[in-house]
Amino acid sequence: MSKLSLDRILQSQGFGTRKYCRSLIDDGEVSIAGVVHDNYKETIATDGLVLTIFEEEWAYREHLYIALYKPANFECSRKPSHHPGVLTLLPEQFSWRELQPVGRLDHDTTGMLLMSDDGPFIHAQSSPKRHVPKIYQATTAEPVTPELIEQLKSGVQLHDEPAPLAAQHCVQRGEHQLEIVLEQGKYHQVKRMLAAAGNHCSALHRSAIGGLTLDALALEEGEWCYLTPEQLALLVPSA
Ligand code: URA
Repeated sequence: MSKLSLDRILQSQGFGTRKYCRSLIDDGEVSIAGVVHDNYKETIATDGLVLTIFEEEWAYREHLYIALYKPANFECSRKPSHHPGVLTLLPEQFSWRELQPVGRLDHDTTGMLLMSDDGPFIHAQSSPKRHVPKIYQATTAEPVTPELIEQLKSGVQLHDEPAPLAAQHCVQRGEHQLEIVLEQGKYHQVKRMLAAAGNHCSALHRSAIGGLTLDALALEEGEWCYLTPEQLALLVPSA
């Protein structure tokens, strides 16, 4: 069981600098199970720890694993230029924890965005070797045709790629609606593949990653949730 001093615990959870965390503790703002703890040197077991800070409860988490239902007109970058960043949709202390998107969605793409502060998790989840399928619902400017689906499934050449890129699956969902499943996460990949196949993507939504669907998370646009170990296991493709 891991034990840490109270000031380190607060800092690790993103409540600010060590100095600021100590001042919160000194001021009696931190309690555990209804008891104020005002000695910042006190060592406390982190397993199952729930802190109350400014009357709000925070369960200790060594790492953050989050799913956000990204709305349109938010940028995934930590330094957004034209629209607010997705971090503005989350509690402020998550920014102090170096929370990052796992792969990016364009500013106008909606849907499931994973975020974490666990470097190896981010790396593994984004690695092309892992073959994590991402499921997109694309709205097309021109009607979907069997030829379009065939082209996307057999592979289209993008001008800066060494080889054609193919969708893992592709099915028509409506006259202008296509479900497309990709294992790679290249820049603007769905939009560029549709353009290369002679159509145009007018709206894009990511509905699932691996076996984890946005519907199952029951989030509204702009809402987020912590992912449980069972939900994280769904992100790994089955062998
Ligand atoms: N492909 C795109 O073109 N845009 C996204 O946001 C995601 C995948």
